[in-house]
Amino acid sequence: MAIEQSVSMATAKDSLFVAAADDAKASGRWTETVVAERAEVVLNRAVNAEYRHLVVRCGPVAASAVAGQFFQLLCPHPDGEQPFLRRPMSLYGADPAKGEVEFLYKVTGAGTRGLASLAAGDRLDMMGPLGKGFTLDPALRHIVAVGRGAGLATLAPLAKAARANGTAVTAIFSARRPDLMVSVDLFRSHGAEVITVTDSEGTSGPAHVERILRGLIAEARADAFFTCGSSRLMRVQQRLAAEFAIPGQVAMEQQMACGLGLCFCCVRDFHVGGEIVHRRVCWDGPVFDLMEALP
Ligand SMILES: Cc1cc2nc3c(=O)[nH]c(=O)nc-3n(C[C@H](O)[C@H](O)[C@H](O)COP(=O)(O)OP(=O)(O)OC[C@H]3O[C@@H](n4cnc5c(N)ncnc54)[C@H](O)[C@@H]3O)c2cc1C
Ligand code: FES
Repeated sequence: MAIEQSVSMATAKDSLFVAAADDAKASGRWTETVVAERAEVVLNRAVNAEYRHLVVRCGPVAASAVAGQFFQLLCPHPDGEQPFLRRPMSLYGADPAKGEVEFLYKVTGAGTRGLASLAAGDRLDMMGPLGKGFTLDPALRHIVAVGRGAGLATLAPLAKAARANGTAVTAIFSARRPDLMVSVDLFRSHGAEVITVTDSEGTSGPAHVERILRGLIAEARADAFFTCGSSRLMRVQQRLAAEFAIPGQVAMEQQMACGLGLCFCCVRDFHVGGEIVHRRVCWDGPVFDLMEALP
């Protein structure tokens, strides 16, 4: 009886919510900012031994995503595996005119193996755009993007946004080996200078990256830092940001469940105003002030 009552109360509450939402939509007071939809796969192909490029056709809300935001993807189940939760994936590109969004993902486990099985014409259940993305002040004349691993995918849409603002970009991209480097052509196609550093060539160490960054600062080519994918490189930028009063933003990665700010499984510590505060990466970020982030 109690269960029936609560079910009927929940149903009544849902109907009230839907009616209120319909009223708000009709009056023009509500605009959707997040949608769940079954987007159509346009292409899904390997770009190197680890990463794949996925393009989907979607509605206008998803296609309005901005750099640094992410989607929660319901990955298909590969044989014998069950990626139960949705997997977070950064926006790699968006084309509102074509109604498309792009992802660049590394195949690491069951979920991304499931994603790799999608073919053109298949449907992908995705929810987004989610989270707070990068803020690109048009007053910035020259920015530096520093990324490693999947962070190179997250930083990618900054190149197009910066060019639209007339902001010059220097990118320092780090990978294990040259053949695993991604996003380089995309940045160059938007006029950015790209400096690549790799473990195999012995150029990816923090000391070498710091020398490159100090050179850019000396040439007045570092009005702000944008970074993702490496705690070591983030710490280098935090030191230089403090020394030269350079603002910065970092996109943080964290294991997520809901992606909507509800489950608190993505909480990390941040250093704000002399205190340690806890924030949900999915809801308060994933992009945060560089100086507040803790590795
Ligand atoms: C906001 C956000 C944006 C992301 N954007 C991208 C992207 O653009 N491209 C991309 O390739 N990856 C991205 N990731 C990481 C991606 O979500 C994970 O690689 C993916 O969920 C792994 O799922 P899986 O089932 O294939 O592997 P699992 O079996 O779940 O995990 C495989 C391995 O990856 C690790 N892992 C899983 N999730 C994460 C995570 N969130 N952060 C760090 N390590 C993780 C696990 O600990 C494990 O070692 C992003 C993560 C977040 C939080
Ligand atoms: S993933 Fe649930 S609160 Fe962030």
